Amino acid sequence: MRTDYCGKIDSSHLEQVVNLFGWVHRRRDHGGVIFLDVRDREGIVQVVCDPDNAEAFSIGDRVRNEYVIRVTGLVRRRPEGTINSSLISGEIEILANELEILNASETPPFSIDEEEPSETVRLENRVFDLRRPQMQSNLRLRSKVSKYVRNFLDEEGFIDVETPFLYKSTPEGAREFLVPSRMHDGEFYALPQSPQLFKQMLMVAGFDRYYQIVKCFRDEDLRADRQPEFTQIDIETSFLTEEQIRQIMEEMIRGVFASTLDVQLPNPFPVLPFDEAIRLYGTDKPDLRIPLQFADVTDLMKTVDFKVFRAAADLKDGRVVALGVPGGGELTRKQIDDYTSFVAIYGAKGLAYIKVNDTSAGIEGLQSPIIKFLPEDVVLKVVNQVGSKNGDLIFFGADRSGVVNDALGALRQKVGRDLGLVEKGWRPLWVVDFPMFEFDEDEEQWVARHHPFTAPKDGHEAYLDAEPGKAYAKAYDMVLNGWEIGGGSVRIHRSEVQQRVFRSLKISPEDQEAKFGFLLDSLKWGAPPHGGIAFGLDRIVTLMCGASSIRDVIAFPKTQRGQDLLVGAPSRVTEGQLRDLHIRLRNVSQAAKVDKNSS
Ligand code: AMO
Ligand code: AMP
Repeated sequence: MRTDYCGKIDSSHLEQVVNLFGWVHRRRDHGGVIFLDVRDREGIVQVVCDPDNAEAFSIGDRVRNEYVIRVTGLVRRRPEGTINSSLISGEIEILANELEILNASETPPFSIDEEEPSETVRLENRVFDLRRPQMQSNLRLRSKVSKYVRNFLDEEGFIDVETPFLYKSTPEGAREFLVPSRMHDGEFYALPQSPQLFKQMLMVAGFDRYYQIVKCFRDEDLRADRQPEFTQIDIETSFLTEEQIRQIMEEMIRGVFASTLDVQLPNPFPVLPFDEAIRLYGTDKPDLRIPLQFADVTDLMKTVDFKVFRAAADLKDGRVVALGVPGGGELTRKQIDDYTSFVAIYGAKGLAYIKVNDTSAGIEGLQSPIIKFLPEDVVLKVVNQVGSKNGDLIFFGADRSGVVNDALGALRQKVGRDLGLVEKGWRPLWVVDFPMFEFDEDEEQWVARHHPFTAPKDGHEAYLDAEPGKAYAKAYDMVLNGWEIGGGSVRIHRSEVQQRVFRSLKISPEDQEAKFGFLLDSLKWGAPPHGGIAFGLDRIVTLMCGASSIRDVIAFPKTQRGQDLLVGAPSRVTEGQLRDLHIRLRNVSQAAKVDKNSS
């Protein structure tokens, strides 16, 4: 029987005999005495093998890093001068009486204490990587967060209901993962991008409050904050308004932070309308820790001759923005050139700037390649509007709104970080009042900004047919330190409104019936007003751990290329499996590689 975890043995155990299990973390041979640091999930304890005990000593001599051992021994105080105050067990050591090797280990792929190896090495050796204390603590924090959420929702009367993974292909949002059906030749299931319609149908079914901590699947391009399979805290309620839903949800998130990190988030969270977010930050997920805002100078630039600004200001969908950077006057020509290349990634054709040397000297106190093209009063108005002080710099973006927002939004983040302007702490907010639709230039049609089941704002149904661009939605996102950690909405609960929204999205009546007939039907059976939200659990935990990628809070994640390097997925299958599924590979060279013999 184990008497305790290694990492938990402290001076309260002095003079006791303990029986411990763990991995050899480090082995030191101090000429005659062998020291073993033995590790388990709770931490490290020092074991001493004295030559007086020949058997324990000889085993201590044989073990190597990552061997699994059992130790029985007496807890004694460490000699003066060898106390390690950074460990719980730092004041004591175990004098080994019995040592047993339970299993040997090959030489580890990297040392657990080493600087982080490359991510590829870590993911190929994930089992070993997960032994690192950082990964252990990340996954344990994740477990605490889920547990808190479950308790909270349970206490608030939410019912945990499971919904299918083998779902049906529906055209919304990201690309889906398809699963061929063996029993139905030529037909496919799709893995759900979220349980959206199931949770709505559970509201129609009268459950009133639902939740599920659930895997979702999206075959999209991966980034630091995206995985093809990820976990949502998925929630739906009946009869609540937008504000009421937001209130419960921020209470839950405040509770998560208070209980697991002892962090007090603001109460209430600030609320920022979408249009305002775009106007001030160029993005709907602003990082409020960065104290930089846009000043919109579009109207002012409609009066000037400088073509770069005037042309953008005159565009129907154009915008000219000034971004003040405190202390930016220090930036060198080279740094400004680098920022110009940076914004070019987002399509910006240039990056005009003004250095503000001396605000009391009028135009003479400014330094810039562009002020000679602009009337003096316009330049001074801009400096005034931005609120620049001596030593500041103002960047400009002029283009179609989309380009300016993306380019200067990203620049705001980058400059903020580079100049050390990011404030400490946690800055949550709600972004609300999203437009229902955005215009997809490639498809030349309106697409749902959130999803097509989102209810329009009261009175905005009137815009659905003729002016979809004017319709706003009862939708809300929760944003934390620049990450969208959750999003939801009040839903459409009337079948005819749902059909009108489908019509705005150019989904034909036949397609509506084929793809969403089940929804339209169930909305007819007395669907209650309802709404909800889904949080990205992986993202929340990533932020809480201070990790830079959600891969660091997922035990077995996929790479940027969607591969699991540990098990080697995806992988080829046999000809026999394909035949059962009625599938023939289109790519001849790939088809040739299928193992024909193992069918
Ligand atoms: P949405 O698509 O906004 O809404 O997703 C909700 C939250 O899930 C997280 N998330 C992701 N996390 C990791 N990897 C991904 N690929 C990924 N995609 C999304 C984000 C996001 O805020 N059914 C609706 C919710 C609703 O309306 O109730 C939905 O899925 O944190
Ligand atoms: P140009 O007339 O192209 O030499 O540009 C004059 C200045 O305006 C340079 O500093 C450019 O970096 C800047 N500039 C050019 N196009 C844009 C733009 N679309 N937005 C902001 N600045 C620009």
